This record gives sequence, structure tokens and C-alpha cells, in this order.
Amino acid sequence: MKVLVIGAGNMGLTYSEGMAKSPLLNRQNLMINDVSADTIATLKEISYFDAYEKLEDCLPQADIVFIGVKPYHADELFERMKPMLNKNQIFVSLMAGVTIDSMEKSLGMPKVVRTMPNLPAKVGKGVTSYTESKDVSRVELLMVRNLLDTTGESIHVENEDFINKSTGISGSGPAYIFYFMQSMLEAAQKMGFSDNDSRILVSNTFEGAVQLFNESDLSPETWMDRVASKGGTTRAALDSMDDNNVNQLIKDAAYAAFNKAVELGES
Ligand SMILES: NC(=O)c1ccc[n+]([C@@H]2O[C@H](COP(=O)([O-])OP(=O)(O)OC[C@H]3O[C@@H](n4cnc5c(N)ncnc54)[C@H](OP(=O)(O)O)[C@@H]3O)[C@@H](O)[C@H]2O)c1
Repeated sequence: MKVLVIGAGNMGLTYSEGMAKSPLLNRQNLMINDVSADTIATLKEISYFDAYEKLEDCLPQADIVFIGVKPYHADELFERMKPMLNKNQIFVSLMAGVTIDSMEKSLGMPKVVRTMPNLPAKVGKGVTSYTESKDVSRVELLMVRNLLDTTGESIHVENEDFINKSTGISGSGPAYIFYFMQSMLEAAQKMGFSDNDSRILVSNTFEGAVQLFNESDLSPETWMDRVASKGGTTRAALDSMDDNNVNQLIKDAAYAAFNKAVELGES
């Protein structure tokens, strides 16, 4: 099985690195292509990539093609790809808002997997949602899943509506956590902690809370009750959040991202 990744940017490179470091592929079986000659020159110095500047030198040999360019580059890229494709190839899109139907039509190919990645894939802690066109077989889907899992975990969703929903939760989600962290950092700094101490306080609090959550079956709500005793400090903070409707505001934010993903997919 030969895999090609087109677009060696944030996401393309992240998935390439995940696959390169996994036992699934060796160097000969992982190809990477980008429009930038400088990027290709840099990649050629990295031993675990087989970097190609010209699409015609790598695309025809690929069994699975990951597409990691920005959505606004997709049409131009599809146009260039079209004459070099064959119907057995599987196209895995990392692009937000590009539908399976539009890829099938633009490429003239039936096997498409659409994903919604997220940024923690960079550190092997990503979550990728994915769904496929009807011509992708179970075995092919399993191969794709194994490749996606090299950057963390993946979940199969039944249709593209859930890809848009995943955008609202996991795709855009890391930014919501950073938003919360930024507020906590600003509060710590305002209280007089140094930048470094604020960072330690905030980042360990997030990491510790997530680990506690992951190592038990308890819901976040139960954990909140465990931390907050009646009349205590944590309850004062949680009451303040409830009074300000923070719970609803976070849900509204997730829906705003979901709705935007739907809108972008329709344009
Ligand atoms: N970043 C995220 O957190 C995130 C999350 C979910 C989904 N995504 C999706 O991931 C995709 C990639 O995003 P990104 O942040 O990785 O973008 P990026 O860093 O800009 O990477 C895209 C790369 O593709 C190259 N490229 C452009 N046109 C090309 C072509 N025709 N052939 C080969 N390479 C080409 C670009 O080169 P130039 O720079 O020279 O144009 C760049 O190196 C997007 O579609 C986005 O929707 C990203």
C-alpha cells in the first residue's frame, strides 16, 4: 500500500509524521507533495519522507491519497489531479467544508473519505471524525482508519452532517480550551502571579483535571460536585458561572462553529 499526502502544511505534515513513525508504512510507501520547492527541499532532508515536487511523479503510484491543502486551493488541485487518477484510488480529505459529492464530481472518482481532524494530532492526541462515499469498502475503510489513528484516535460517523457537528466539538474545540486557559491565565496574572507561575498553575490544572476525568467513569458534573463543597470556594466560582449562563454560552459557541461548517459546505 502506497500513501501520498498532498500539501505539507500543518495538517498534511502532522498526518505524514504520524504515519511515518508508525509501523504501518516504511519510507518507500509514504510520499509527500507540496507546491513549494523550498518545502520539498526541507522535506528531502528528513529521512522518513519521500518528497516529490511534481504530482505526476507520485500521484499515479498512490493507493491512498490524503489531501491537506486549504479548501480554496482544492478546485485548482483537483483539476491538475484529474488526468492522473484511477478508480481504485482512495481520496482522504483533511479539508474543512469540502463535501464528498463535490470531490467525487471534481475528481471523477468514486472512493472518497472525508475527515475532520483536530490540532492535537500534532502531539499524537488528535481525534479525527471520518465518513465515506458508498464505494469505499469495509476493508479500505479499515486501512484508512488505521492511518488516521497514527495521530491519536478516530471515530467513524454515519454521514457528513456529523462531520460538521464534529467541527463544532473537536475540530474547533481546542480553541475553546485555549480560550478558557487564556481567561484563567489573565485572572492569575491579575492576582499577582508571575507569567511563569500563572502558566504552571493553569496548565497543570487543565492537564490534571483531564487525567482525573480519563482515569475514571465519572461525569464532569460528578467531578464538579466532588470538588465543590456547599458554601465553599469552588461552589462560589461555579455559581458565578451559572449566574452568567456560561454553560449555555459554551453550547452556543459549539453550535456557531457547527452552523458555520454547514454554511461553508454549501457555498
Ligand atoms: N489547522 C487546523 O487546525 C485544521 C483543523 C481541521 C481541518 N483543517 C484542514 O486542513 C487543511 C490544511 O490546513 P493547514 O492548516 O494544514 O494548511 P497549510 O498549513 O496552509 O497547508 C497547506 C499546504 O498545502 C500547500 N499547497 C497549496 N496548494 C497546493 C497544491 N495545489 N498542491 C500541493 N500543495 C499545495 C500549501 O502551500 P502554500 O503555503 O505555498 O500555499 C501548504 O504548504 C485545510 O483544508 C483545513 O480546512 C485544518
